[in-house]
Amino acid sequence: MPKKLDLTENLEKYIIDHSEALTDVQKEIIQYNISLGDQQRLQISVSQAQFLQTLIKISNIKKILEIGSFTGFSALSMALALPSDGLLISLDKSTEFSLKAQSFYEKANERKIKQIIKPAIESLKELKDSSQKFDLIFIDADKENYLNYYETSLELINKNGLIVIDNVLWHGEVADNSKNDKFTNIIRKFNTHIKKDNRIVKNITPIGDGITICIKK
Ligand SMILES: C[S@@+](CC[C@H](N)C(=O)[O-])C[C@H]1O[C@@H](n2cnc3c(N)ncnc32)[C@H](O)[C@@H]1O
Repeated sequence: MPKKLDLTENLEKYIIDHSEALTDVQKEIIQYNISLGDQQRLQISVSQAQFLQTLIKISNIKKILEIGSFTGFSALSMALALPSDGLLISLDKSTEFSLKAQSFYEKANERKIKQIIKPAIESLKELKDSSQKFDLIFIDADKENYLNYYETSLELINKNGLIVIDNVLWHGEVADNSKNDKFTNIIRKFNTHIKKDNRIVKNITPIGDGITICIKK
């Protein structure tokens, strides 16, 4: 077996530097998030954003639903990869984060993003009631509702569409038997649910905090 790569911070930086360059507004959001201190960890990593952009382009994705937008880094990154007639609906319950995100979308002149500000469970029910369908759903909000979000996403996703879920490796703690806190167990239970689900084809990719990509059969 080939030797495994140790993905050091230096190597991660090298990967980012040699992948698709960030736009000025993407860089500005990152700087803004850093200024928030501890909350910066809510944002997906740059390599995850670059990976999502590649996924969107190779899969010819046109309609995206994001659950959990924070200050807009992941939404803007994904919207930039969409064709000009694409649409991204972004859900977040926080007015403060959503207004900040909106200011970045305006700065980037990005008009493909529509925001809905309320608890995601309510928005998802409305999207279901209006028979909306998506090509990609990105789940990155409160972990307690991951199973709910996933099950509803299965009803909202097109055949062969992608459901992508963030934080599935939970800083590596999912594979550490000495960790038994609430959130590690929530993610473990979620990962087991996905493993057993025959309605999808799945793959866990170890970028950022780990993402699962599910393809709806
Ligand atoms: C991890 S952050 C999202 C990060 C974002 N994807 C990015 O890369 O910048 C999670 C977001 O989910 C939102 N959130 C938490 N619980 C929620 C809920 N019940 N309904 C809607 N949004 C929620 C939070 O306000 C927060 O902005």
